[in-house]
Amino acid sequence: MKKLVVSTGAGISKESGVSTFRDADGLWENYPVMDVASASGFRRNPALVHKFYNERRKQLLTVEPNAAHRGLVELEKYFDTYVITQNVDDLHERAGSKNILHLHGELMKIRSMRDERRVYTLTPPDIETSIDTRDKYGDRVRPHIVFFEEAVPNIGPAIKLAEQADIFVVIGTSLVVYPAASLMNYVRRGVPVYYIDPNPSPVPSYVTVIAEPATKGVAHLIDILTKD
Ligand code: APR
Repeated sequence: MKKLVVSTGAGISKESGVSTFRDADGLWENYPVMDVASASGFRRNPALVHKFYNERRKQLLTVEPNAAHRGLVELEKYFDTYVITQNVDDLHERAGSKNILHLHGELMKIRSMRDERRVYTLTPPDIETSIDTRDKYGDRVRPHIVFFEEAVPNIGPAIKLAEQADIFVVIGTSLVVYPAASLMNYVRRGVPVYYIDPNPSPVPSYVTVIAEPATKGVAHLIDILTKD
């Protein structure tokens, strides 16, 4: 089976009702991104950051995977499929994708501030945290999110997947946040690369651009990849 590697960004979850990041002047759900999604923002005002991610988790419980998430599961019948996502939502998991690598962390997880290896999954309805939340060792916790100004621990495995890809697909990302945006550069020469986005950023000419929303674009991609 050929190896299909799909890199997804906020755009794939847009039709589920999750807003993207760069639609509204650097505001993420009405907050300045650097206040709620950076290491310095968290140091400055941890209470605000906890509140923000509590709201994001509550919102996540109200949305469902869409036909694009499900379409990637469908492709597992034909390809050895791997999803690398910049998204912190769990919509790929809920759609049923088997191999998912989160580059920027996961909304439904928290971790110890003393030992980053201690990661905990929140189970609804207990999805709220605060500066007073402690884990079972008595240590404070933080969102299991890769903040701006922090290293991206999963970039190594993601690069390896990009290097191994026989087909590489990018869906719904503005390709402005590094190192995620650079994954395409690791794809071997001659490997077909597709980019699905209704408002695509500039990409090299060897990339086939499908300028459609994710649900329609993934249906289109399935047609292209399974026709022969
Ligand atoms: N289907 C597919 N793509 C869409 C759709 C849709 N229905 N609607 C919008 N898009 C596209 C936009 O055209 C844009 O190119 O989704 C992209 C969203 O870009 P960003 O908001 O920049 O999101 P993303 O690239 O995932 O951001 C990267 O930035 O704030 C950080 O850590 C955060 O992971 C995030 C990273």
